[in-house]
Order: sequence, then C-alpha cells, then structure tokens
Amino acid sequence: MKSTIFTVLLFCFSSSVLGQYENTIVGPNKAVNPYQYSVVKSGTFNRASVSSAHPLASMVGAEIMKQGGNAFDATIATQFALAVVYPGAGNIGGGGFTLARKKDGTLIGIDYREAAPAKANRDMYLDAAGNAQDALSQNGHLASGVPGTVAGIFDTYAHAKLPFAMLIQPAIDLARFGFVITEKEASSLNGTKKDFIQYSTKPSAFVKETKWKVGDTLIQVALANTLARIQKEGAKGFYEGETAALIVEEMKRGGGIISLEDLKQYKAKSRTPIVFNYRGYDVISFAPPSSGGILIGQMLKMIEPFNVQKMGFQTPASVQLMIEAERRAYADRAAHIGDPDFYKVPQKTLLSSTYIKNRMLDYKPGVAGSSEQIGAGVAPTSEETTHFSVVDPEGNMVAVTTTLNGGYGNRTVVGDAGFILNNEMDDFSAKPGSPNMYGAIGGEANSIAPYKRMLSSMTPTLLTKNKKPFLTIGTPGGTTIPTSVFQAIVNLVDFNMSLEDAINSPKFHHQWLPDEVSIEKTFNQNTKTELEKMGYRIKSRGSIGRTEGILIGPTGKRITVADNRGDDAVAGF
Ligand code: GLY
Repeated sequence: MKSTIFTVLLFCFSSSVLGQYENTIVGPNKAVNPYQYSVVKSGTFNRASVSSAHPLASMVGAEIMKQGGNAFDATIATQFALAVVYPGAGNIGGGGFTLARKKDGTLIGIDYREAAPAKANRDMYLDAAGNAQDALSQNGHLASGVPGTVAGIFDTYAHAKLPFAMLIQPAIDLARFGFVITEKEASSLNGTKKDFIQYSTKPSAFVKETKWKVGDTLIQVALANTLARIQKEGAKGFYEGETAALIVEEMKRGGGIISLEDLKQYKAKSRTPIVFNYRGYDVISFAPPSSGGILIGQMLKMIEPFNVQKMGFQTPASVQLMIEAERRAYADRAAHIGDPDFYKVPQKTLLSSTYIKNRMLDYKPGVAGSSEQIGAGVAPTSEETTHFSVVDPEGNMVAVTTTLNGGYGNRTVVGDAGFILNNEMDDFSAKPGSPNMYGAIGGEANSIAPYKRMLSSMTPTLLTKNKKPFLTIGTPGGTTIPTSVFQAIVNLVDFNMSLEDAINSPKFHHQWLPDEVSIEKTFNQNTKTELEKMGYRIKSRGSIGRTEGILIGPTGKRITVADNRGDDAVAGF
C-alpha cells in the first residue's frame, strides 16, 4: 500500500473510556481508534478501499471489508459512521442515492431521497402576498422532508453479507464513547451553535457552553440510543416505535408537519441507472429524481464531437466549450426534471443524440452564449452534501451521495433522538416560475406535492471500460455537483490526468442562471481574462465540491483519492 498522509492528528484520550468497548472494531488500540487518527489523502491499495469525507468513516468501511464484508457491507458501515462523525452532512435524518455495479455487471440504483410530507402543499412557503419565504423552507421544522436514509440502507443490505448488527456497531460506539474532532469540525460546530439553539426544542450534544476546539471529544448518547434501536428493530427502529414518536413530538413542539403515517409509509425506490458511452467508457449515473445522470450525460455528449484534448486543459477554448455545455444542460434541468413518479421527465429525448447535437448548433467558439436566449431556469440546491466511494476485493463498486441539504440540515436536532433533520424541502421550487433566494428559477416539474421527492443534483457515478470496473466517483456541492463530476471525468479521459489531479484541479461552474461563471480562486488567471474578453461574467468563489474517487488500475490496484478541499480521507488494504 502506498499512501499520502497530509495531516496527522494525535489526541490524548481519557483513561475512563478504556474497557468500555466490547466486540467492536472501534476503540483505543482497535483498528479504528477515534482518539488518534490520520487524514490520509490518497493511497493505492491491492484489494479494497473507501474514500469518504471523514477518516474514521473510511477506516470503518475498510475494516468491515477486511473482516469479510463486501462493498455493500462497507457502504452501510461507512454511512452509519458518517452520520456520527460528520454531522454536517452524514445523516440518518436526510436522504440520498446509492449507485452500485455488482461484480457480475448488475446495476443497482437505490433512491432514498426525502419525500414531502402528506400535509405539504404547493404553496406552503408563500406568504399572503404570494412571495416565497425562504426562511421556512431552509431552517427549522417545516423545512424537513420525510427522511429516507435508513430505508435506503436497508435496501442496500439486501446485497450485503455480514450480520447487520456488526455493520451499525461501529457507529454506535463512535456515538456512545465519542471521537475527537478536527479543527474544521470544531469551527463549523461553533459557527452553527446559534442556529442549533434557535431551531431545536431540546438540548443537544452539539451545543455546549464553551467553544469547541480541535481535540475535543464529541459524545452523542441520544444518537447512540437511536442507532441501537435501529440495530435491534431494523428499519422499524427508525420509522416506527420510539424513534418515530420522538420525531413527531419534535414536529409538534416546533410546528412541523411530518406525521407517524408519513414515516411508516416511507419506502426507498429502485431506479434504473442512466448509462451512456463517452469516448469508449461506459458512464453509469443516477436517474431522476436526481438531475445528475441526465446533466453529465448531456454535458459529456455535447463536448464529445470536439477534440477537447487538443484544445488543452483549462485553456480558454476548452473551458468555453464546457461552459456552453453546462449552460444548456442546466437550462434543461429547470424545465424538464423532477420526481418521475409525479412528472413525466423526457429523459430519452434529453439524452438523444439528435437533441444534444441540436442544442449545440448555436455554440460559437470565442463568443459568450446568452442564457436569455435559451429559455427556462434552474432550481438551486445547497452545497452541504457528502459522497463516498467503495470498491471491494470482489470488484463490486458503490458510489453513495447522501445529504441533509444545507450544512447541519434544518438545524433541528430531534429531541432525545440526537440526529439532525434535513432542510430538503428547499430543493423544491417554492414558487414555480419565479426567482428564489439564489436568483434562480424553478419549474412546474419540481413544484411541491404530498409524497413527491424534490429534485436533486446528486451524481454518484461509475465508469467501466470494456465491461470492467474503472472508476467510482461523486461529490457534494449542490448545483455544482454535476459540473464537478463532469470536469473530473473530462480531466481523466480527455486530459489523461491522474485521479489525484483530476479531483484536485481547480473547478469552474455555470448553471445557466445566474448567467455567470463561478471559478475557484486557483483557476488559471489567463483563461479567466480571455473568457472575460469573450463576454463571460466571471465570479471568484470558495471551493467547489469535495470529490471522492477510486480508480481501478490495469493491474486491479485500487487507486483511491480523497479531495484536498476538506478533512476527506481514504482507507484500504
Ligand atoms: N440537496 C442537494 C441535492 O440534492 O442536490
């Protein structure tokens, strides 16, 4: 195993925790030591690996595979661990998409996107004057959709090998006995303290009198108890019984509308993945209610007729071409994509070669396109989500993107249950046809209706070459998710970059509306100037996405990379 360790964290732990751990992979002197761990940014592993937003979650997943689990066992263990160690986006109170390719080539798409509660309605966020009230769809009890993550995990379990109790135990231990937090975690918890107090109705583990600091231990006993109920009772340990009652009591205290019946009826759904070919690679990605698969399908196919490699990496010519592909795909997102069980998404047309060819007929090299002339607009999404990638020794590949929507979701910690609810209702168009808080526009396809799932940008993606596993990849980043995945694939396939460079290179983003290009601060300044001369409005912004990928090299090695933009880390063997 070859690996790059960027940061080594060394923390002291109190001797009082010693001896409390039993039969677990977590604990001082165990494989996953929550008091002393490193942020390993990349590694080449012989058999199996995980790349996720948190070192402890990646280590849990890798260790589960070491103990005989497959990629699905590791996915479940990693996902529960993230719900504990990465509370900003890891979750049991949110939702997501799991995309997998089994070693025999079978494709699996599990949709556990949150759903609007039965009492939701199209105009629920409008005031008397008909204006959208963003505060209600973004924070507090009314912002939450019915959580889907636990249902999704149990559908994933159909493909796993090890006892379920073993897969959730690491998360229970991490919650009950705690783990030391990094500097970034301390700072984000401190930054959210005021909101936790405002939007929660009971005290929670995330709020303490003094400021969090690096090396502090975060203990979440209420969450450990909720996870233990799931361990004992299965999905019913979340959707029925004590946990469901705690969610509904929280709703009553805070003016929310999720009911016991909403929770009981929630089911994950199976979705047929979107598959298309890009320069000899089969790209497999997620179907609606994610917009991700359609968007990367459109963007890659729009640029495929051009010799992007010859244009060069992030030259004005290649970036302009990619911006114009992004502009056109995102315009379609707004008009045509929503929950396919409520709205007829013209998926076949949007991905047909004739349609895609026609979309690029008005592309003019050297001259900025105009969003005014392309029609429709975009429903935005917030940027705090999390992705992880898993490959096991057998060759099963899994890509999971899961979210609370905003960082720490709606900032409501369910009283005595210890987990944070999502604010995914904001991913619906609160008022179809009119600009929302980001100045972007959503369409009828994504209007609110009871039980409907809100449009997503999450883009868990797999690539195969000659029917053999090649890549598992994905990222958080709201509407920037599909452009990040698009650019990582182009970097790999067209520019022959290493996975590390493909992931860590500067990114840019255009989402049709607003008609501007966002760039990371490290983006090529000469290209920026040339694009401005063509007529593009360019805006510098913070980092775009946190991409986690595993590339299966020609000899079967798992080349595993975690994005440099956060505490993301890899583990494997
Ligand atoms: N909430 C982020 C997304 O689903 O796109």
